[in-house]
Amino acid sequence: MCGIYAGVTNHSITTHLIDGLNALSYRGYDSAGIALISKQGLERRRAKGKLDNLTGLLKQTPLEGKVGIAHTRWATHGKPECRNAHPHMTLEVAVAHNGIIENYAELRKELEACGFGFESETDSETIPLLITCYLHKGMTQCEAIQNTLARLEGSFAIVALFDNCPDQLFAARQGSPLVIGHSDAGFYLSSDENALIDKSDAICHMQDGDLARITHNRLIITDFEGNIRKRVMTPSYAISEEQGKQGYRHYMLKEIYQQPAVIQQTLDHYLQEDGTLHPDLKSLPMESLCRLSIVACGTSSYAGVVAKYWMEEIAGLPVDIDIASEYRYRNTPYPPQQMALFISQSGETADTLAALRHASKGGQQTLSLVNVTNSSMASESDRMLPLLAGQEIGVASTKAFTAQLATLLLLTLVTARSNRQITQLQLQQHLNTLNTVPRLMDDLLNQTDTIRNTAQQLYRSEHATYLGRGIAYPLALEGALKLKEISYIHAQAYPAGELKHGPIALIDERMPVIIIAPPGPLFSKTLSNLREVHARGGNIILLSNQAGIDQAADFTDTAIVMPEMDALIQPLLYTLPLQLLAYYVALYKGTDIDQPRNLAKSVTVE
Ligand code: AGP
Repeated sequence: MCGIYAGVTNHSITTHLIDGLNALSYRGYDSAGIALISKQGLERRRAKGKLDNLTGLLKQTPLEGKVGIAHTRWATHGKPECRNAHPHMTLEVAVAHNGIIENYAELRKELEACGFGFESETDSETIPLLITCYLHKGMTQCEAIQNTLARLEGSFAIVALFDNCPDQLFAARQGSPLVIGHSDAGFYLSSDENALIDKSDAICHMQDGDLARITHNRLIITDFEGNIRKRVMTPSYAISEEQGKQGYRHYMLKEIYQQPAVIQQTLDHYLQEDGTLHPDLKSLPMESLCRLSIVACGTSSYAGVVAKYWMEEIAGLPVDIDIASEYRYRNTPYPPQQMALFISQSGETADTLAALRHASKGGQQTLSLVNVTNSSMASESDRMLPLLAGQEIGVASTKAFTAQLATLLLLTLVTARSNRQITQLQLQQHLNTLNTVPRLMDDLLNQTDTIRNTAQQLYRSEHATYLGRGIAYPLALEGALKLKEISYIHAQAYPAGELKHGPIALIDERMPVIIIAPPGPLFSKTLSNLREVHARGGNIILLSNQAGIDQAADFTDTAIVMPEMDALIQPLLYTLPLQLLAYYVALYKGTDIDQPRNLAKSVTVE
C-alpha cells in the first residue's frame, strides 16, 4: 500500500529518501516520487513502475536539498501513471498523502469553480490545491494547512513542503499511520516505523488529529486548531527486515523456512518455564462466552476458519467467522456474552480495523491477534495477543499464518480447559503435542524434491482446484490463495463434498486438483471425492500420510507424503507444502514473488 517517507535534516537528503522508499517497497506500489527544496526552490521527480525508474530519472536530472518528501503509490483513484504519482504539487506546496479523501469529488468541483486545474485523477491532489487556494486568500502556511485539514473527510497521513518555507515540513495524521524519527541529523517521517530504524534513535507515533511542524532541530505538535499536544519520543524497538534475505532467493522463501523458529518463539512466549500458560492467555474471560465472532481478511481469515473447527470441536464454543469487509456493513446482533476476535498480521488492514471499531461501538468485548504490536488494532482493542512471527516482508503471508494458527490453538486449549471440556492432563498432553511442531516443520522443510517436481508440472496450468474436508478445507483456501497471489494462476478452493454441486463441471485432464486429505474420520469421505475427480480425468496431487497415499495410489498422479502426527497439529504442518508448491510454481513462471502485481502487503484502504 502507499508509503510516505520524508526528512528535514542538516545534510543532503536525496539518497536517504530513496533508501526510505526502498524500505517501504515491500508494502507494494506501482509508482514513486520525491519532492524537495533545491537551490531552485520546490522541485519534484516522479516515475511509474519500480523504484529503479525513479533512481534512473534522478541520475539524468539530479535533485539536491536537505528537506524533502517521498512516496510510493499503490493505485486507488486513477491508474498507475506518472501524472497520478505523488507528491502532488502547485508552485507553492508539495504534498504526499496516504489514505482516501472521501469528499474529494465535492472539493474538486469547488476548486475547479475557483479556477484550479487538476493534473491527476487522484483524490490526493485536492490537498495541495486546497492549501494553495487558502494561501492565495492571504493565509500563512500553517493557517492554510489547518483550514485544509478542517475540510478533509476520510483517512489521511500527509506530509507537506512549502516553497517559501524551505527549512520546514508539516505533517498531519487522521486514521493512517505516521511516525516521526529523530537523530542528530534531524527528523525523518514515515508511514512505517520499520523504514525509520536505521535513521533514528527515538520515535514518536503521531496520533489522530495531530499536526506536526518540523525543522531539523525543532518539533512542535498541535491539534488541527493549533493547540499544543504533548508527545514523547521513545527509543525505537522496531525490528529491521531481519538482515535481508540471508541467502534465500526471496523473502517469501526465507519466511517459509523461518516457521519452525516462529512456532518455537510462540511456544516460548505463551508457555512459561514452570509449564503454566502466559497470564495474557489465562486471564481471558473465555469461560463466560456463549459465542466467539472471528473477523479478518485474506489469509488471516483462513486462520480464523481453522480456529472455528478447533474451538467448536475441542472447546465446545460456537464460532462465527466473518470477512471484515462484509461484517462492517452488516447489522450484526451483539449478544452480551459474545467476544469479537480480530486477526491481522499488520494490525492496519482498513476493513478489519473498521470492523473492530464497529464491534467496539456495539459494546462487544474485543480481542485482537496482531503481528505488528504498535498497530492501530493493537491499541484499539480491549485485549491483544501478539503474534511472534517477526517482520513479514513477502506480500504473500506465510509465517504470520502459522503463527496465527499456533496462537489460536493455544487460545482454543485455554478455552477448552476453562470450559472444562478437557482435563489438566489432556491440556498438558496437547501442549506436548504442540511442542513437536518446530521439529516436524524442520524435517518437512528439508524434503522438498517432490514439491519442486510437482511445481514443474503445474506451472504451465491455467487453473487449479484445491479440495479439503473439515479442517483441511481452510487449508485448501489458503493453498489456493497463495498460488493465485504469486503465480497468477487461477485457483479455486472447495470443501471436497461440495465438488459435485457444481465445480465438478470444470474437471478434465487439464485441471490439476490438489487434495488435502490428512488421516482421520473424514479421510474415506475425501477419498470418494478423489475418485470422482479421477473418473473425470482430473490430474490429482494428493497430500496425506503414507497409509493414505497407499490407499489412493490407483487414482493419484502425484503424492506428497506427509509425516505421521497428532490430528491436533495437522493444519500447522499441512500448510507448509502448500506454501512451497505456490512458491516453486511462481519461481518456474518467473513472477515477482515478493511483490506480486497489484498486491499490497497491508491493505489500508477500503
Ligand atoms: C495473504 O497472503 C495476503 N497478502 C492477504 O490476504 C492478507 O492476509 C490480508 O490482506 C490481511 O492482512 P492482515 O493480516 O495484515 O490484516
